[in-house]
Order: sequence, then structure tokens, then C-alpha cells
Amino acid sequence: FADGPLRGLHAVLTAGPTREPIDPVRYISNRSSGKMGYALAASLQALGARVTLISGPTNLPTPAGVARVDVETAADLLEHSLQLAADAQIFIGAAAVADYRVDAPADEKIKKNDAAMSLALSRNPDVIAAVRERYPDLFVVGFAAETEKLAEHARGKLERKKLDMIAANWVGRGRAFDRDDNALSVFWAGGERELPQASKAAIARDLGALIAERYGARA
Ligand code: C5P
Repeated sequence: FADGPLRGLHAVLTAGPTREPIDPVRYISNRSSGKMGYALAASLQALGARVTLISGPTNLPTPAGVARVDVETAADLLEHSLQLAADAQIFIGAAAVADYRVDAPADEKIKKNDAAMSLALSRNPDVIAAVRERYPDLFVVGFAAETEKLAEHARGKLERKKLDMIAANWVGRGRAFDRDDNALSVFWAGGERELPQASKAAIARDLGALIAERYGARA
């Protein structure tokens, strides 16, 4: 492990999209590339943490020195997160978890016909909220991707999910998703910090340092 302020700590991150099957060949997913979560995993590793990355499907290489567990659905992500968070001190939810899954995925490929078709969907579990619930002493950091009222929505999630910190970014109109740069507004109970537009690697270094700082200052 690298030397640094997070030495001796285990950080677990979720990253990337989830995929919710419709049938054996189709799924529902989203535009998350996983880049922000992967960059943050590398940054926490460089700050001395042992890092486990629980990743939905991405095209990214595993950062050096980071352990990676691949998952597909939100249900998989939940199971591995609850398991791996058991011996962690820091948990970061950077995954873009699908909010809904298909009620009854078909066993065989669905055949088309001329009629319209609809899919019945159910709500997925909230992974980060479940992890917080199970492990009250964990330092939990969430992300929020918003198209409007960034601070208000991010602070709402910070409180509702009982997070220690939330990193919020504007999305839509070509911002953040599947790009190499990003800007973040970070909120916690007693304060906030702006991390202005920069490469995701640079933003991840600043966010990693801020996480180390706030972890050190936790009650
Ligand atoms: O509510 P919203 O999806 O905007 O919250 C975003 C945060 O919650 C992110 O940290 C994301 O990883 C996490 N999340 C989760 N499980 C869900 C939905 C979101 O862990 N089902």
C-alpha cells in the first residue's frame, strides 16, 4: 500500500452503471462510463487505502493496486456491497444504479409482433442507503447527478440517505456522463467545497484528499 493519510483503511467503492435484464439479450441501463469512480479508486489507493472497486460493466482498466469485483444488476451490487463493507471504514457510492428493474425477465428472447408493448418495472433497492443502515460507523460518501437545483437536491440526498458527504455534479447537455472532465460541488453537514472543472483524474485527487480530510475530522 502507498504511504498516505488513508494508510491502514479499507475503502469500498461502487462504480459504473448497472444492467437490468429484459430477456437473455436485452437490458435496461444508463450512460454512466464509470470514469469518475475508477479515478477516485486510484486516488484513494494513492492516498494509502486498500481499495475494493465493485463495478458494473465498463470498458475501463482496473487501476493499479485496486481489487475489482464485477457485478451486473443492482441486486448483485447490493449483495457485494453489504458483504465488502463489513470490514471497510469508507464506502463510496459512485455507481449509477438503475432505479428500476424488469419485474419478470423472460427466459427466452422476446419475439416482436405488430402490437405495442410495455414492460412492468419494480423499484430497485437503494444500495448506499442500505449500506449506511447496516453499518452506522462507516464513513459514507454519495454522488448526485442533477439537471437542476444542484445544492438543494444534493443536500436532500445527504440527509435522506444519512451520508457523511455528497459530491454533486451537473449532468445533461453533454456534461459529466461519459466525459473525461467534470466539476463537483461537495457538501457535508458543516460545510461545502467547490472543485472546479478539471480532468476526472485531477478532480478525483482533490476529492480523495477532501475525503481523507473529512474522515480525519469525523466525530
Ligand atoms: O437518489 P440518487 O440515485 O440520485 O442518489 C445517488 C447516490 O445514491 C449515488 O451515490 C448512488 O451510487 C447511490 N444509489 C444507490 N442505489 C440506488 C440509487 C442510488 O446506491 N438504487
